Amino acid sequence: MQQKKSFFIKIIALFIVPKKKLLILCKTSGTYLKILTNDKNMIDETKDGLTQSALARLADVSVTTISRYMSSHSFKPLDTSLNKNQRYSMMDSRQVVRNFILKKGSEIKKKKFAFYNFKGGTGKTSLCYQVASHTAFMGFKVLVIDADPQGHLSTSYGFSNDTNFFTLYDFLIRKIKFDDVKKNIFEGFDCIPSNLSLTRLEVELNQLPKREERFSIELSEIEKDYDFIFIDTNPTISILNRNVITFSEVINVVCETQPYSLNGLKLLMEDLERFYSHMNIKPRDLNIIPNKYEDRASSSAEAMTALREYYGPYIKEDFAIRRSEDINTSAKLGKPLALFAKKNSIALEDIIELTRYFLTKYIG
Ligand SMILES: Nc1ncnc2c1ncn2[C@@H]1O[C@H](COP(=O)(O)OP(=O)(O)OP(=O)(O)O)[C@@H](O)[C@H]1O
Ligand SMILES: [Mg+2]
Repeated sequence: MQQKKSFFIKIIALFIVPKKKLLILCKTSGTYLKILTNDKNMIDETKDGLTQSALARLADVSVTTISRYMSSHSFKPLDTSLNKNQRYSMMDSRQVVRNFILKKGSEIKKKKFAFYNFKGGTGKTSLCYQVASHTAFMGFKVLVIDADPQGHLSTSYGFSNDTNFFTLYDFLIRKIKFDDVKKNIFEGFDCIPSNLSLTRLEVELNQLPKREERFSIELSEIEKDYDFIFIDTNPTISILNRNVITFSEVINVVCETQPYSLNGLKLLMEDLERFYSHMNIKPRDLNIIPNKYEDRASSSAEAMTALREYYGPYIKEDFAIRRSEDINTSAKLGKPLALFAKKNSIALEDIIELTRYFLTKYIG
C-alpha cells in the first residue's frame, strides 16, 4: 500500500513539472525523482552582451580602436540592444578581446586557481565569480568550480540551492560523468555547481584512498580542455579544501583590509606550509588580494601598510579591491560587472585590473 502511494506521488510530479524542466528517474541506493533544470542561467546570450566601452576596457585599448575594429570586421550589435547602448554578442566579444590580448606564440604557464581563506566573508566567492566571468569574456575557455556547500557561486550563476541538479559531490563520489554535471554558462564558459549536498563530501572523502588527491585525479582528464580553472572554496580547513589546494597551481588568498586580518593570515600561511610538507608537494604560487578597501577609512590604510610590511612580495603593488556596492548588486542580479556596470564603476575598474594582472603574470 505504502509503495502504491509513493508511486502515485511520482506520477503526479510528472504532470506538475513545468515543460522547460527535465524530469528523470535516477537510481542510487533506491529509486528517486531528480529534477534537472537548466533554464535558470542568469546570463542570457540573446540579450546580454558587451558595449564597445566594456570591450575597450577588457582589451586595454581605446574605444576608438575597438569601434574601428568592429566596423572593419563587420561585427553587428545584438538586435535586442538599444541604439544608444549597443551591445555585442558574447561570442563576438570573446573573439575580439582575445585577438587583442593574446600575443602570437604566448602560452599559459599556470591555469588552476583557488580563491581561498578559512576566514568567512572576505570576498572569495565575489572575486572568483568576477575574475572567472571576466576571463571568459576575454575569450579564454574557462571552467569555474563551486567547492562550497553554501553554493553561493552557483546561485550567482542561477543554479540555485533549492534546485536538484548534479553537483561536485556527484562528480567526485558518485562518478557521474563530467558532461552530465557541468553547466554551460555561455559558449566557452562552464561551471561545476554545488549545493548543500556537499556537506556529505567530507565523510566520504575521508574514507577514500588518496583522500587529498581525489580532485586532481577526477579532473586530470578534463583540465586540458580549458585555458583556466577557477575554484571557490569554503571557509574551513576541510579535506575538500585540501583537495583544492593540491589541485591548484595558484592560491589567491582574499583578505579584508581590516585591523585583524593579519592575525588570520599568519595562521593560514603556517597551515599551508605544514600541508605542503605533509603532502611533499611544492608550495603553490601565492597572491594575497586585499579586498573591501575604503579610501577614506584610516583603518583600511593601516591594514594595507601592515599587509605590505609582512607579505609585500605576494601583493600586487598599489592595488586593493575597493569596497563598492556594484559587487553586491552584481551577485544579486546574477550579471558579472562588465554586463551592467557604468563606465565609471570602480568595481569594474578593479576587477579588470586584477584579471589582467593574472593574465600578465601567468601567460608568457
Ligand atoms: N569589494 C567589495 N565591496 C563591497 N562588498 C563586497 C566586496 N567584496 C565582497 N563583498 C560582499 O561581502 C559579502 C561576503 O562576500 P563573499 O560571499 O564573496 O565572501 P566569501 O569569502 O565567499 O564568504 P564565505 O566565507 O561565507 O564563503 C557579500 O555580501 C559580498 O557582496
Ligand atoms: Mg563564499
